[in-house]
Amino acid sequence: MTHQFSPLTKEQKKELHEIALRIVSPGKGILAADESIGSMGKRLNQIGVENTEENRRLFRQVLFSADDRMDNCIGGVIFFHETLYQNSDDGAPFVKMIKDKGITIGIKVDKGVVPLPGTNGETTTQGLDGLSERCAQYKKDGADFAKWRCVMKISDTTPSNLCITENANVLARYASICQQHGIVPIVEPEILPDGDHDLKRCQFVTERVLAAVYKAMFEHHVYLEGTLLKPNMVTPGHSSPTKYSPEEIAMATVTALRRTVPPAVTGVTFLSGGQSEEEASIHLNAINNCMLVKPWALTFSFGRALQASALKTWRGQRENEAAATEEFIKRAEACTY
Ligand code: 13P
Repeated sequence: MTHQFSPLTKEQKKELHEIALRIVSPGKGILAADESIGSMGKRLNQIGVENTEENRRLFRQVLFSADDRMDNCIGGVIFFHETLYQNSDDGAPFVKMIKDKGITIGIKVDKGVVPLPGTNGETTTQGLDGLSERCAQYKKDGADFAKWRCVMKISDTTPSNLCITENANVLARYASICQQHGIVPIVEPEILPDGDHDLKRCQFVTERVLAAVYKAMFEHHVYLEGTLLKPNMVTPGHSSPTKYSPEEIAMATVTALRRTVPPAVTGVTFLSGGQSEEEASIHLNAINNCMLVKPWALTFSFGRALQASALKTWRGQRENEAAATEEFIKRAEACTY
């Protein structure tokens, strides 16, 4: 029995469900701007910009200073810890800028991946220590949802049972801690697109992983209506010799979700996982047009697929800021449905 000892009051559940619904209200998705300092370093390096706190702030400002066209397609923005406490050039806190647009604030709370000894290079995600205290503080500082990312890879020997069970459990434990603090957890079990596997294999692995995640969520008494799932789309491996149409990818993705994700989950917000900006929006559109019955909102929580053109246009130059912001809005508008 899930709620035998009522981990949440009626009011807490109502708040969580309303936050989740707001983030994925029709036509809206999530801007994932929560790259860690290391990941931002990789992005800035591609455009020859030094990875300093100021440059990271300037690029986030390019995104957050978009006009009200952003409000129509973005329901939530995920921040990294540093960004939550930064201001725009004129001293306005980023949190206030985003909230004033009616957009919900999220925060990445995991602390990255660590090896699982005895596996073929597999990982789990750390960050449970002190998570309850950090969630309480982030809620006070304006965050209403959180993200925790686990990573799995497809090969002949992976993902292993250990990797699947460990990552499902840590995601469920994180989700239950967030909910105690009025924070909607985004549950992200990412299966990487590296490899030469075909679409069927990715679908099978995705089903196996999601089935384990929802078993663990049940056992941890997580209130599903107050959660969002952030999965990979079901795609062939990057080096797969076989290519598939957007309709085939959509059918495989929706089929995998229908078999494993309870209808009580409020929304599914896909990651872009290294797809090009165009591919990611075409696939999302095909997923929404798939004729199978879809009981959840299906939308985006893209990082690279919303930011790649903006980053290239910006190149760290003040005079490119406005044009870069336009590129971001263009991508966000291409993703709405
Ligand atoms: P991508 O869309 O670039 O995969 O990033 C989304 C994300 O937040 C991964 O955790």
